Amino acid sequence: MIDAGRVIRSSIIASQIATHAPFGGVVPELASREHLDRIAPVVARALNEAGVALGQVDGIAVTKGPGLIGSLLVGISFAKSIAMVADKPIVGVNHIEGHIYSVVFENPPVEYPAVALIVSGGHTTLFLVPEEGSYAVLGRTRDDAAGEAYDKVAKLLGLGYPGGPVIDRLAKRGDSRAAELVFTLPRMESPNLDFSFSGLKTAVLRYVREKRIDPVVTGCDPDQKVIDLVASFQDKVIRSLLTRLRAAVRRHHPRTIILAGGVACNSALRSAVDTEDFGAPVHYPSPILTTDNAAMIAAAGYAKLARGENHGLEFTASASMRIDNVVLKGYEVPLRARYKV
Ligand code: KG4
Ligand code: ZN
Repeated sequence: MIDAGRVIRSSIIASQIATHAPFGGVVPELASREHLDRIAPVVARALNEAGVALGQVDGIAVTKGPGLIGSLLVGISFAKSIAMVADKPIVGVNHIEGHIYSVVFENPPVEYPAVALIVSGGHTTLFLVPEEGSYAVLGRTRDDAAGEAYDKVAKLLGLGYPGGPVIDRLAKRGDSRAAELVFTLPRMESPNLDFSFSGLKTAVLRYVREKRIDPVVTGCDPDQKVIDLVASFQDKVIRSLLTRLRAAVRRHHPRTIILAGGVACNSALRSAVDTEDFGAPVHYPSPILTTDNAAMIAAAGYAKLARGENHGLEFTASASMRIDNVVLKGYEVPLRARYKV
């Protein structure tokens, strides 16, 4: 439940980490089943903690995509039913747009143009945001998302799921120059700010085989070789993110930089960004609003509801929903070519 677009009255997170951890990643079937079990009590608790009745809300926002179709459908069906019962407008929100809005609660208002780097388990995308609600993709990953690479490397090393927080913690004790990871990046034309993480993941796998590193036994402390390896891996990920973020800032001179999505929790990434002078403030959310949460979806939905949008009961889930609605010709942004998400 949020108020006035930027005040959180309640934010309930029903984490499924314990369900998926034994499998080292999200199991779609288990995810939708658990969504189904939890959605009604979570919404009831959100209203209860906010101290409002359903009839008092102005509108309902729900994630439309991208994501796992089963989980999206559970959310959309439930949201539509309460919108119908309470006779409220409803808007479908892009999950990535939600991450972009996750910064509104704890930072000064975003000034445009903005550059947004969204790094999560499913996406690694760099956007130019010329004005609120308009997005041009400057670069995206060609293979794995950064968070996915963290999770896969952690799985390979027996470090558990999700990998990001574990590697973040271990890397603090590691020497990032100790493990030499050799990999090549796919060829990318020069103005292109695309990312690639699968070569790095394969380099970790090769290193593990060459150096005969065994996966860490659950409950045991990893040895220094593993700690240095994850520090080296993380260092490469952060360099790759920062190089492209710097290039985007040089080209587009944003007035705000937005850093969001689960990987933006990473303490080394945050301190690297904090020590850099981008010529514009960097907005990022506190960790609890950086990983997936409903408040960010409500914030993105609020902006749509405030513009008078109501998607009614006809819209449905979109597993591969796109967000970019501004066509970049070279690096000129023709705003006339814009349409809303
Ligand atoms: O945004 P998010 O909660 O879900 C998606 O939309 O994917 O991001 C989850 C991802 C996972 O891959 C997780 O390993 C990563 O964010 N993550 C981190 C950290 N905390 C979560 N990656 C690096 N460092 C962290 N501290
Ligand atoms: Zn997310």
